[in-house]
Amino acid sequence: MYLTKQEEQMFDGEQGTAVQLAMELLTKVGDIYGADQMLPIASAHTVMTPYRDILDAGVEICEKFAGYGGKYAVPTTLDPAGMDLQRWRDLKIPEEYAEKQMRIVRAQEQLGGIQVWTCTPYLHGNIPRPGQDLGWSESSAVIFANSVMGARTNRLTAVVDMAAGIAGRVPKFGLHLAKNRQGQALVKIQVDPKSITDSDYPTIGYFVGKQVDEKIPVLTGLPRTVSTDQLKNMGAAMAASGSVALYHIPGVTPEATTRERPVEKGEWEDTIELGMQELQQTQEEEMSTIRDGPVDFIAVGCPHYSPMEMRKLAMLLKDKKIHNNTTFWVYVSNYVEMLAKRAGYSRIIKASGAQILTETCMLVSPTHIYGFKTLMTDSGKCACYGPALCNTEVIYGSLEACVKTAIQGAFQ
Ligand code: F3S
Repeated sequence: MYLTKQEEQMFDGEQGTAVQLAMELLTKVGDIYGADQMLPIASAHTVMTPYRDILDAGVEICEKFAGYGGKYAVPTTLDPAGMDLQRWRDLKIPEEYAEKQMRIVRAQEQLGGIQVWTCTPYLHGNIPRPGQDLGWSESSAVIFANSVMGARTNRLTAVVDMAAGIAGRVPKFGLHLAKNRQGQALVKIQVDPKSITDSDYPTIGYFVGKQVDEKIPVLTGLPRTVSTDQLKNMGAAMAASGSVALYHIPGVTPEATTRERPVEKGEWEDTIELGMQELQQTQEEEMSTIRDGPVDFIAVGCPHYSPMEMRKLAMLLKDKKIHNNTTFWVYVSNYVEMLAKRAGYSRIIKASGAQILTETCMLVSPTHIYGFKTLMTDSGKCACYGPALCNTEVIYGSLEACVKTAIQGAFQ
């Protein structure tokens, strides 16, 4: 791989051991994928954050980079931690687990990570422009950055994301190259656009991810009025049920500016149709493991809720009471919690008996320790991973259905 003079110095350790280690790792990744040079990046986002996922080895890696004097060379935001960093004692997180989590927090502080502790960095100041190269991990954030913002990042893995932040570079391959960003599978959504609801978007994402796996889908038939939150939630599901890192919607996303095919030549590798029947089947048979009975855990906010989603939740929960046998947790960043508090949403949500948890989520914190039996969620990503990571049955439904279930204590 060609390295500039400065990059050679970094590789040789002239800018310290942390940078040297980062460059070694990045050049190895580049060699594997046939990259011929490094690209400077505008920002990084790292998942080296929840103890539940990165375990002791991850703690040691964070501390090693920090101990060698490493500092992020570009703005680097942090994904959720493995527990609510303020209320972990109230939530009965084991001391030993919390102690390891706090070691990660301290190491990331030393490295200069921007402590948003959220999977929605694009709502928290790490806002890329179209065409900018990034070094991001977190599948839901990566697909949003590529598709909705038109920035360029591969789905980096843990550790490689930290290395990218420390070196301020990534190897040039994959989605950094325009030729690799063209649509491959045409998805025709054959549902009346006016009838598509919030809860259909994660379902569409889930269905498409399963069908296309790693290919780049081009979705037609969605309304041009699709909201940022709907795109966020659809992409997260698509990146969870498949390995999708980029989608196009002609007339909506920046790299598909016309209603024509956003590729220059050749045939579609796949053409997929999605109608009402597939939507319903996906929601009921694939995103849910059961479809009735008591529900003891409702978890929403995956990806972390935006202020608009907190508003909607507050409106639904106003003057309602959550059933005694049901725990209702909503996950947000500290920043969104602050906005929700100022707007009065938090007061309404908490008055219902629901709790707002910050800086973590249902899948990266040890929710399995509570022994919940049935999880209900409005998140396609959570529906995908919930059974394994929360050790529960799962029911997928709209936020309206989650609230109704929370009040009744059961899904009917
Ligand atoms: Fe975010 Fe956790 Fe979901 S990191 S995308 S809320 S699994």
